[in-house]
Amino acid sequence: MFQVPRGTRDFTPNEMQKRRYLEQNMATTFTSFGYGEIQTPTFENLELFTAKSGESIINELYTFTDKGGRELALRPELTAPVIRFYVERLQMEPKPLKLFYFGNCYRYDRPQKGRYREFQQAGCEIIGADTFEATAELLALAFTLLKNTGLKNVRINLGNLTIISAMFKKLKLLKDDQKTLLPLIDKSLFDDLKIALGECNVSEKEIDSFISVLQSSDIGEIRSFIADDHDAMKELHSMEAILDLLKNAFHVNEFEIKLSIVRGLDYYKGLVFEIDAPVLGAEKQLCGGGSYELVSLFGGTVVPTAGFAVGFDRTILALEAEGFIFPPSKLDVFIIPVNQDMVSTSIEIAQQLRNHNISVDFDQLRRGMGKSLKYADAKHVDKVIIVGPKELEKKTVILRDMKTGNQETVAITEIYGKLKKT
Ligand code: HAM
Repeated sequence: MFQVPRGTRDFTPNEMQKRRYLEQNMATTFTSFGYGEIQTPTFENLELFTAKSGESIINELYTFTDKGGRELALRPELTAPVIRFYVERLQMEPKPLKLFYFGNCYRYDRPQKGRYREFQQAGCEIIGADTFEATAELLALAFTLLKNTGLKNVRINLGNLTIISAMFKKLKLLKDDQKTLLPLIDKSLFDDLKIALGECNVSEKEIDSFISVLQSSDIGEIRSFIADDHDAMKELHSMEAILDLLKNAFHVNEFEIKLSIVRGLDYYKGLVFEIDAPVLGAEKQLCGGGSYELVSLFGGTVVPTAGFAVGFDRTILALEAEGFIFPPSKLDVFIIPVNQDMVSTSIEIAQQLRNHNISVDFDQLRRGMGKSLKYADAKHVDKVIIVGPKELEKKTVILRDMKTGNQETVAITEIYGKLKKT
């Protein structure tokens, strides 16, 4: 028997109902912040991802050669494709360009709950604006997007790669050493980090204050560590201004500075952030993003770029874990023709109601009354219409309320009006 490939999933109609609900909900939020939807291909030229996405992503790529000998890859994320699209066709568009997307991504990762080889992202990129207000709005959008789905508890953690760079500089760490240290910082493996810094000949006193700053959300402590680095001080000042707007204008308070957020992709620079849903435990990171530079690498004229992506599958898991009730997918009406002669009238009634956007099905298995009612019950149908010869002679049908079991005779011409009322 065939099974789905490891790390992939099939979705039932019930699960798809939840996914479509979430997609619509998120599209509404993106649109309300002035973003327009785009779509890019599922596979791209391999080089697009090897150029600057970073080692961890490259190791996880699904790659293949097509019949024309082209080296291709299934996209592991959508930021590089979106910037490729921008450089190719959208550079002349008025700025800022606010783009959002939904798309499946592929990473050859070790599957576990919340971590799949095929998963969906909902994300956005803002191209051509990096004012405090633009960045604060991006953070507010990520937060609002998740809150609007119905999630109760999400928190933003903010890091900054310019500040981390200055901290490395202060410890006189070489570029190669920084490369090995970043993953330890990213995973908050502070004991291992201590050992690794020791091996780089950093003094114990410096290691302690470095790790203390990494774990601190106190701007004062961070400022005193990087005070003599002009670029880092400028970034810290920007962060303060951005967070001030986030708090006092967008009224988002659920954030914290956490410099150990360094992100796993190589294209980031400056401000980066992640949003967690604590309810999820191990794979709790729902969203990741920040400012980055890919435009010039892809041959475009440099403009500021920033964005984020939300793990669509994890958002559903988090909503379920918080006990969120998704709007049910329901059949509104089930029609039972009492005998074969009643079938064509039943179809006509079904079509009439479908034209009014009511979801309708009718018995197509010639099951008889008892079994048909049982089926309607199992499908959680609100109303059943029974089409019988006696009623049909008077151009009426029986309308049964499945919750109460009450039945009434209704003229065929009045069925829609009656259903609309209830
Ligand atoms: P990322 O952090 O690699 O960022 O992915 C974003 C989100 O996708 C994660 O927070 C997580 O929820 C979800 N995710 C990642 N891997 C998996 C997986 N194997 N299974 C299920 N969900 C997963 C990016 O992809 C960047 N492109 C985000 C960005 C946009 N930065 C700037 N603009």
